[in-house]
Amino acid sequence: KPQLLIDTDPGVDDALAILMAHAHADVLGLSIAAGNVGLSHTVRNARTLVDLAGATTPVFAGCPTPLVRLPEEDAAFVHGRDGLGDVGFPEPMTGVKGEHAALALLRLTREHPGEITLVALAPLTNLALALKLDPGLPQRVKRLVVMGGAVTGHGNTGRVPAEFNVGFDPEAAHIVFEGFPDFDLVDWELTLRHAFDEADFDEWLAEGDRRAAFFGQVFKVARETNRRSGRRGIIAADALAMAVAIDPSVVLRSERRHVGVELDGRLTRGATVVDWNNRLKLPEHANVVLELDQAKFAAMVCRALGAEKPT
Ligand code: BDR
Ligand code: CA
Repeated sequence: KPQLLIDTDPGVDDALAILMAHAHADVLGLSIAAGNVGLSHTVRNARTLVDLAGATTPVFAGCPTPLVRLPEEDAAFVHGRDGLGDVGFPEPMTGVKGEHAALALLRLTREHPGEITLVALAPLTNLALALKLDPGLPQRVKRLVVMGGAVTGHGNTGRVPAEFNVGFDPEAAHIVFEGFPDFDLVDWELTLRHAFDEADFDEWLAEGDRRAAFFGQVFKVARETNRRSGRRGIIAADALAMAVAIDPSVVLRSERRHVGVELDGRLTRGATVVDWNNRLKLPEHANVVLELDQAKFAAMVCRALGAEKPT
């Protein structure tokens, strides 16, 4: 079983990814970022999800704001004002640890050198801070999988080419991309190519256990927002990155490239710039995932919802 440390801002697709992680891996901790909604909500949501998973995973609160500039937008219109579809869940049983998320990332990777897959599902603020505190972090992790970026410029934020996680804290993404010599990048455009059929997904929700019932509730706002924006299918960015973290064989096609982050552009701040033709002669640190095994991905999601494996 892989050992995972998840940096996350739950968030509806984060919620699905966290359920997948608990169904398929050992989860050593959840380090929590601000992003989809404010930190107090994302921390509480993470605690709710640990309760739902029936786990004892420690939850560590991280940075409440990006490293440099305050964000221009959140994603409450997708995830609900509370980040989990405004269902109004009761106060969770799981508590929050006193240790800061960035310090917990450093400590846990020291305690398990070479064993941990770091999964980044949120703006990269906590990871960047951890890396600044200890640049030796990449040498201690087995893998880093990042959900972030839009590799050919079809972003999902107010700045056209920027994807949310990178666009929320571009400086943090820049620090992490420059600091890690090797990581898998699951970008927003890949997510759009790997959406689930709505009817299939509804079947899994109907068949599944309490986790499916929960997901059906929290997913309503996001589904409405998607429909209004004319998108078809069930889009779950963080779940896709989690599939890559749990089982690397889910990746069918990828290209190793240098990926930079635009920090200054008037129209392009937060864009990810992929050097497809190696013009810059910079280290090709990112394994840009281009195609996934959809059947394997679906099977992982089903198990996380307590539903039958799709045939
Ligand atoms: C990413 O942004 C967030 O809204 C999602 O949780 C995901 O991590 C997609 O761009
Ligand atoms: Ca997220």
